[in-house]
Amino acid sequence: NWTTGSVIEEQVEAIRAQVGDKRAICGLSGGVDSAVAAALVQKAIGSQLTCVYVDHGLMRKGETEQVEKDFVAATGANLKVVDASERFLTALAGVSDPETKRKIIGREFIRVFEQAQLEILQEEGPEVAFLVQGTLYPDVVESGGGTGTANIKSHHNVGGLPEDIEFELVEPLRQLFKDEVRMVGQELGLPDEIVQRQPFPGPGLGIRIVGEVTKDRLDLLREADAIAREELTVAGLDREIWQCPVVLLADVRSVGVQGDGRTYGHPIVLRPVSSEDAMTADWTRMPYDVLAKISTRITNEVADVNRVVLDVTSKPPGTIEWE
Ligand code: XMP
Repeated sequence: NWTTGSVIEEQVEAIRAQVGDKRAICGLSGGVDSAVAAALVQKAIGSQLTCVYVDHGLMRKGETEQVEKDFVAATGANLKVVDASERFLTALAGVSDPETKRKIIGREFIRVFEQAQLEILQEEGPEVAFLVQGTLYPDVVESGGGTGTANIKSHHNVGGLPEDIEFELVEPLRQLFKDEVRMVGQELGLPDEIVQRQPFPGPGLGIRIVGEVTKDRLDLLREADAIAREELTVAGLDREIWQCPVVLLADVRSVGVQGDGRTYGHPIVLRPVSSEDAMTADWTRMPYDVLAKISTRITNEVADVNRVVLDVTSKPPGTIEWE
């Protein structure tokens, strides 16, 4: 007999039994799964948990603050925030190939996260032995069902630590589906902005700028994206729309006319999709007046954007993201 309360109780017991009086680390991504996993472990072992959030500078407007303030306020968790945005920008400089961007972001992310783990180990001693992960039931099935351990290697060791450190994994969401995870998160008091968050790719806005990723372009895209999200929420479309990537075509220059003269700016693409599982998707037939409002606001409020276009491609053949 499944109830959210019984799942929480059961998992709290299991986490306490597994971790004992040792310490655990959990990486937060800003997404639902890692936040709920961390909140559960926090409920079970309190200050024995340290959460780590790597700010890669590729998040949407307000999302880092949501983790820093709202998540901490809701859970009381210890949080270590690593601001690595400069490092990511440097690593991405001059790169416009989508797959290369993905690889760079993934690689830097692992390096920064492992560095943070090593610092925590040095501060808190070798009894840190557990790594919390927000693995869901569909991930377990897909990967063949094994539970595991994780290694951090010595290649960027900050010194004074054993060659390899092995973590035992804590995966309190292994039996749950996404909707159940959201219910558990809500019951644990996490804010709706976290619990109801739509899918967002790990490489973040880095793969929503077609062209090189720069600070200015990120700031511009963050503004356009915030306007689109705000208007979709006001229009009550957050449930109907699975996710709505907002993409900056930074390598395209479009001509516009604003005020007295011609402008040379960039187009923004809106990509609202309806989907069950992101494997297939269709473009959302959303009301013209909402599209008009978003378009007017973005072209008025975001400098260097003089055109807003709508992506009307289903998946397949188009993917949800542009890169
Ligand atoms: P596509 O673009 O392949 O996206 O139709 C399917 C779903 O996956 C998300 N996505 C990613 N998520 N890292 C992620 O964590 C990635 O590199 C990545 N690429 C795409 C996308 O937002 C959609 O929900």
